[in-house]
Amino acid sequence: MANVIVIGAQWGDEGKGKITDLLSKSADVVVRYQGGVNAGHTVVVEDQTFKLHLIPSGILYPNTQCIIGNGTVIDPRELIAELDKVEALGVSSDNLFISQTAHVTMPYHRMIDQAAEEQRGSKKIGTTKRGIGPTYADKSERTGIRMIDLMDTDAFAEQLKWTIDNKNIVLEKLYGLEPLNADDVFEEYQGYADRLRSHITDSSLQIYNAALQKKNILFEGAQGTLLDLDHGTYPYVTSSNPVAGGACIGSGVGPTTIDRVIGVAKAYTTRVGEGPFPTELHDDVGSLICEVGAEFGTTTGRRRRCGWFDGVVARYAVRINGLDCLAVTKLDVLDGLDEIKVCVAYELDGDRCTDLPSSAAQFARCKPIYETLPGWKQSTEHCRELKDLPEAALNYLEFLAKLTEAPIAIVSLGASRDQTIIVEDPIHGPKRALLKENTSAFKVMA
Ligand code: GDP
Ligand code: IMO
Ligand code: MG
Repeated sequence: MANVIVIGAQWGDEGKGKITDLLSKSADVVVRYQGGVNAGHTVVVEDQTFKLHLIPSGILYPNTQCIIGNGTVIDPRELIAELDKVEALGVSSDNLFISQTAHVTMPYHRMIDQAAEEQRGSKKIGTTKRGIGPTYADKSERTGIRMIDLMDTDAFAEQLKWTIDNKNIVLEKLYGLEPLNADDVFEEYQGYADRLRSHITDSSLQIYNAALQKKNILFEGAQGTLLDLDHGTYPYVTSSNPVAGGACIGSGVGPTTIDRVIGVAKAYTTRVGEGPFPTELHDDVGSLICEVGAEFGTTTGRRRRCGWFDGVVARYAVRINGLDCLAVTKLDVLDGLDEIKVCVAYELDGDRCTDLPSSAAQFARCKPIYETLPGWKQSTEHCRELKDLPEAALNYLEFLAKLTEAPIAIVSLGASRDQTIIVEDPIHGPKRALLKENTSAFKVMA
């Protein structure tokens, strides 16, 4: 039995969906604990591709309970569309559960997200415009609507009237938008309530009971460490806590429930949206990585910015999440390169710096200091064991493991489940988080 958190160690889109699906094979429960439909997690199984936004990536296993936890924000319109899609592909949603205390994304949240982005002009964040920030803002302001409120027809009607009256002032006066009609929104959301009612649970209690029964619970992070509201590159972040610490809050379990934390990182770095990105490539190599890696957003279709692996960022993710090990994805994307650079530190105002600065202005001034490693110039997508990898690829992974001080337990070489090397058992391997002094532990292979 082990309860495991899977988090993104960079700026999102690290391949968490693939890794969660892979690990879900031995999980009884998979929980999404933050974020909303801004997430886009891709799971490829044989010739089928599933793009999941709110539904946990364990949904493809019929006996696995999938829980959308209290820390998420739920756009019921989008969730229902997602349910329709996966059901059309033959996947049952009988085992999908939704926390009664998750907050609901309303039409005014989407409208405000879009209008606020436009109003910010050159200072825009580059949000997914899915209403995520405004939904979390209402939660913090204690004016949000939760799933349990949506299920109570009379209370919802009353709360909605008051809320829409207030939001219409913002929509009209601040953004010059058309006001919403409370009756229309009520009708629309009552339809959603009816469709989702049978999935609503006290998810914290459900997870607690699963833990008591010694079930395996997997907590699936969305977004990534550098997009964390508290620990990311503020203000260019999302509005939730994707880091491992967020899993407890966002699912209603105590920290003693957690056994291990696995970080997912690409063999290079990508970022969607605005904000500083020290290792970003603006040259042909960047375009090649984007093309070979098919780096276009799962949710918005936006082209992802691409750059070299950033060791400062990855080391930071190891620290902030207390990572036990790493899953390195998309190594195959680097197959064709002559040489590969890795950022080992930054130069900030003439000084060498190996810790992430908290100030956005300072971070924007950081220049990467690179070490250059030889490429392997051959395909790795068919490798299934470490010994199948070219020596230069193995050396590259060793380099990343030493730099990040985290062992690499999984290497991914393609989108499919089988395009994976399990270096060591990512769930039952020795705990590594605090073994810093034992540097020999930070090899690819334990
Ligand atoms: P997530 O948000 O972290 O789940 O990641 P996304 O699904 O948004 O983006 C990762 C993309 O890379 C998806 O299209 C995956 O199918 C794909 N992918 C995952 N692992 C690998 C890999 O090892 N190699 C390649 N070439 N593609 C991968
Ligand atoms: P997954 O789970 C990558 C980014 C947006 C923007 C910032 C804020 O697929 O890894 P938001 O709409 O959340 O207010 O946007 O966060 N962003 C993501 N980038 N992957 C994601 O999710 C993201 N979710 C949000 O591009 O920069
Ligand atoms: Mg994604």
